[in-house]
Amino acid sequence: MATAHVFIATSLDGFIARPDGDIDWLLQRDDANEDHGYADFIADKDLIVMGRGTYEKMLTLGPWTYDRPVLVLSKQLADAAVPEALQGKVRFSGSAPREVMDTLARQNVRRVYVDGGQLVQSFLRDGLVADMVITTVPVLLGSGRRLFGALSRDIDWTLLSSRSFPSGLVQSSYRQVP
Ligand SMILES: NC(=O)c1ccc[n+]([C@@H]2O[C@H](COP(=O)([O-])OP(=O)(O)OC[C@H]3O[C@@H](n4cnc5c(N)ncnc54)[C@H](OP(=O)(O)O)[C@@H]3O)[C@@H](O)[C@H]2O)c1
Repeated sequence: MATAHVFIATSLDGFIARPDGDIDWLLQRDDANEDHGYADFIADKDLIVMGRGTYEKMLTLGPWTYDRPVLVLSKQLADAAVPEALQGKVRFSGSAPREVMDTLARQNVRRVYVDGGQLVQSFLRDGLVADMVITTVPVLLGSGRRLFGALSRDIDWTLLSSRSFPSGLVQSSYRQVP
């Protein structure tokens, strides 16, 4: 079985990006001396599953920096060719989350980092997210792309840990209650 894991930053009012996808409010908090636990988080992940929105934004931010294979979920890109520079690093799939996770499990992928607001919401709805690390940035954006969305039932979490950084970012880790 493959499990899905979330590591994401949100504004105080629950947005992961502005309406146009802008994340400058987040990037300006980048600190060369503080990775906010990302290295520890990614260390035991085998693969990253990313929504098309996140993939397209990452393409605009300069060289590809991911050191894990990336599977981009997208109906639009499913049959497209992967750009030459990303061949061997990125694949496209038009499959649904549960089918993706089953396929990955058959390929011996065990721990998957899921990234992108709509994609995380979709994995949550399907009950596929084992744990989440949510970093809250002390800014109100007023509008934007939501981290969380509508659900047909409550999903309960156990708080594993919570910490704050001198910058004011607050990070909490949660595991889904089975
Ligand atoms: N704050 C943070 O930490 C953080 C983290 C990640 C991303 N971001 C930002 O958030 C923005 C992207 O997030 P987003 O929520 O707009 O998009 P997203 O979740 O990255 O991508 C959504 C797209 O993925 C495709 N998709 C495939 N399977 C899906 C499924 N099961 N459920 C939902 N979508 C599926 C759809 O494209 P098709 O129509 O092609 O199928 C959909 O339009 C970017 O600006 C990115 O920079 C911020």
